[in-house]
Amino acid sequence: MYILAPSILAADFKKLGEEIETVDKAGAQYIHIDVMDGDFVPSISFGMPVISSVRSVTKKVFDVHLMISNPERYLEEFAAAGADIITVHAEACKHLDGTIAQIKEKGLKAGVALNPATPLSTLEYILDKVDMILIMTVNPGFGGQTYLESCTEKIKQLRNMIQDRHLSVDIEVDGGIKQSNIRKIIDAGANVIVAGSSVFGADTQKNVQDFLNILGAVTK
Ligand code: DX5
Ligand code: ZN
Repeated sequence: MYILAPSILAADFKKLGEEIETVDKAGAQYIHIDVMDGDFVPSISFGMPVISSVRSVTKKVFDVHLMISNPERYLEEFAAAGADIITVHAEACKHLDGTIAQIKEKGLKAGVALNPATPLSTLEYILDKVDMILIMTVNPGFGGQTYLESCTEKIKQLRNMIQDRHLSVDIEVDGGIKQSNIRKIIDAGANVIVAGSSVFGADTQKNVQDFLNILGAVTK
């Protein structure tokens, strides 16, 4: 099943609650929440208070993407703020296996994100312990960037790794995803699609529905 995860980093923060309601009602299954600390990535976005304040707006999955150093420090707080999935960057964790275990112990789904330069071999000993792998298709820190074409092959290789081990791990892609490039990305094996600047804007509801129509057509 294909999942659309609009990234609220691209939303109008004057009306964040309404924006989340719009993508929820339009059928998006996840809400992608980009937490940035200004250290692991150059930008600072938002944190636990914002997440907990919008938690009551929707029942959809809060897919929290932690672009922060040493994320194990904050797992409790993000769980309490309403995260359903917590994705940490392999590059940001000193003890990735332990951090994944800590997320799972809280009853949440665990994701691991890889920056474009990080090899899939990083996943060797944890692929069977996670629910989702997030393949960064841009260098993290900003919305509105261009999809890195080299990531298409990386997605294919990850899908093969998962299939070879008979695992059921979601592949999330994140950064520069548009209606114009999504087809090759899902053909490569991604099934959770993050989209920020190509969803939020003049006609957010229509953008979500257009994405879902493309994803639905592939499913059939
Ligand atoms: C980038 C974030 C992405 C980004 C996606 O560091 O992880 O989720 O917000 O935005 P677009 O779809 O505009 O590239
Ligand atoms: Zn993200």
